[in-house]
Amino acid sequence: MNYIRNFCIIAHIDHGKSTLADRLLEFTNTISRKEKKNQLLDSMDIERERGITIKSHPIQMEYSYNEKKYILNLIDTPGHVDFSYEVSRSISACEGALLIIDATQSIQSQTISNLYLALSKDLTIIPIINKIDLPNSNIELVKNDIIELLGCNKDDIICTSAKKGIGIKNILDSIISRIPAPKGDIKLPLQAIIFDSIYNPFRGVQTYFRIKNGTLKTGQKIKFMSTNNVYNVEEIGIFKLKNLKKKILNAGNVGYLIAGIKNPSEVKVGDTLTEVKNPAKKPIGGFKEVKPMLFAGIYPIENEKYKELRIAIEKLHLNDSSLSFTPETSYALGTGFRCGFLGMLHMEIIKERLEREYNIDVITTLPNVHYNAYLKKSSKNPLLINNPYDLPDKNQLEKIEEPYIKAYIITIAQYIGGIMQLCIEKRGVIKNQSYITNNRVELIFELPLSEIIFDFYDKLKTISKGYASFDYTHLEYRKSDMVKIDILINGKIVDALSTLVHIKNSFSIGKKICNNLSKIIPKQQFEIPIQAAIGKKIISRETIRSLRKNVISKCYGGDVTRKRKLLEKQKKGKKKMRTIGFVDIPQSAFISILKLK
Ligand code: GTP
Repeated sequence: MNYIRNFCIIAHIDHGKSTLADRLLEFTNTISRKEKKNQLLDSMDIERERGITIKSHPIQMEYSYNEKKYILNLIDTPGHVDFSYEVSRSISACEGALLIIDATQSIQSQTISNLYLALSKDLTIIPIINKIDLPNSNIELVKNDIIELLGCNKDDIICTSAKKGIGIKNILDSIISRIPAPKGDIKLPLQAIIFDSIYNPFRGVQTYFRIKNGTLKTGQKIKFMSTNNVYNVEEIGIFKLKNLKKKILNAGNVGYLIAGIKNPSEVKVGDTLTEVKNPAKKPIGGFKEVKPMLFAGIYPIENEKYKELRIAIEKLHLNDSSLSFTPETSYALGTGFRCGFLGMLHMEIIKERLEREYNIDVITTLPNVHYNAYLKKSSKNPLLINNPYDLPDKNQLEKIEEPYIKAYIITIAQYIGGIMQLCIEKRGVIKNQSYITNNRVELIFELPLSEIIFDFYDKLKTISKGYASFDYTHLEYRKSDMVKIDILINGKIVDALSTLVHIKNSFSIGKKICNNLSKIIPKQQFEIPIQAAIGKKIISRETIRSLRKNVISKCYGGDVTRKRKLLEKQKKGKKKMRTIGFVDIPQSAFISILKLK
């Protein structure tokens, strides 16, 4: 155990985690340049394109230090707010963390939130300033910021350029000299923490674990402590470039396990695994189930593809237990699913994967949070509303509650005013304002979650010219004066466009939605009224004027192939549309109606 080091890399998004991870792998000859295609750890296509890490991929390296061979287990962590739970679970499998800070950006909100997570698990922190090759880097300033934040010495901070490969040996040496070897006792009953799982269609669920105490062997009978489910260990192993089988793994090690588990929901991240014969008395603490925060309908553009969509969503769910789904029927869109996501980015990724990997064009409806609706006649147990259209009539309602968050915004002094104004517009209340370093301020707000899911982050970036970062934690549900706005197109309510808004903003939002829709929906052969209503009351109206467009009129009858081509072209244009009450509505209508300026 003295020759093992388990560590993770934590950072604000884009500060260079994946690039550094690649360099470490290269330097230790774990992979050669040839084997590496772009960023190896970000193996999902979408991850590579968007440059973000979503899933944690552990990998083992070997490194000699003072003529002794060490095993280094690196657990990569995602960098976006939507995925912060994945960070916390990877952290719990490590003894140390490399804290990467961009030399041009210094400390940002996720630097701090990830650091706090790491400190709460007693991890040793190695501060690293990355991107020192950039001409606008300000190493001295960033060093001072780090010293103020961590209370460390100047010499503790390592300067690197992951891109140019500068300072990599220093990092590897420090991992060994500064991060403690895992503690644990081989003789104690088996206790291993589960930090991830993936689904393999042939072998079932592969569970990723870190052994705290005891020994894990093939053939052993094990159980998960939160479910008491018992399994037979078929295969265990470690993470090299490919998985490498082992017969036995001792305390301190990180590895994978295959035990004929067919249903991924039986494996809960954060759960503890123990032996049936000689079970541990207690699980390792810190287990919490991930709950989706954002809900939206997903419908196939072509109704016949419902079955295919169901299979695709089920498959995606196998590798992503934070994606939830239940069948739903919409008058406007037919049959589809109401899905739960961790955040907007998560939702966009799922939509893209359905379209790219499964070739199903889908409509996603306007996302919303989950509301509690208390009825007058039974005011104890609230109805859980995750589709606004399902909200009961106003006069049956006692009250509505919505989820709140605590937002941590880090910025520099000159942008405080603008950010305050934005947060107040979004119904926020300021709770604290404090200087973290000389010119860096942390603002803490309480805000309704629903107000930050659309354009909050974009607006924050614009107001602060990029000098603001944002992170949040969840608070409780609070009472709110919400009303439902229904949208009527050509006189018909389009249930998928209903939305819940605060009463204070309802008129302006209703007007904006009608206006936006009137621009998005293409003109058609007849006039289309678009109305917003609260209950029976129409609060706004726009009209799309008619247009007569006959694509084949200019073909003078004769040429059949030409005619067919034109019709095909028109059909293609329509593919991404949905016809509701004789009106063609493009996908963008369902999302952009709330993109309010
Ligand atoms: P997430 O996975 O999204 O959290 O990002 P990340 O922290 O893994 O960042 P990533 O490694 O993808 O790097 C972000 C961008 O910074 C990429 O365009 C890298 O090429 C660039 N980058 C990383 N390290 C360096 C460096 O040392 N110097 C320079 N100039 N660019 C770097």
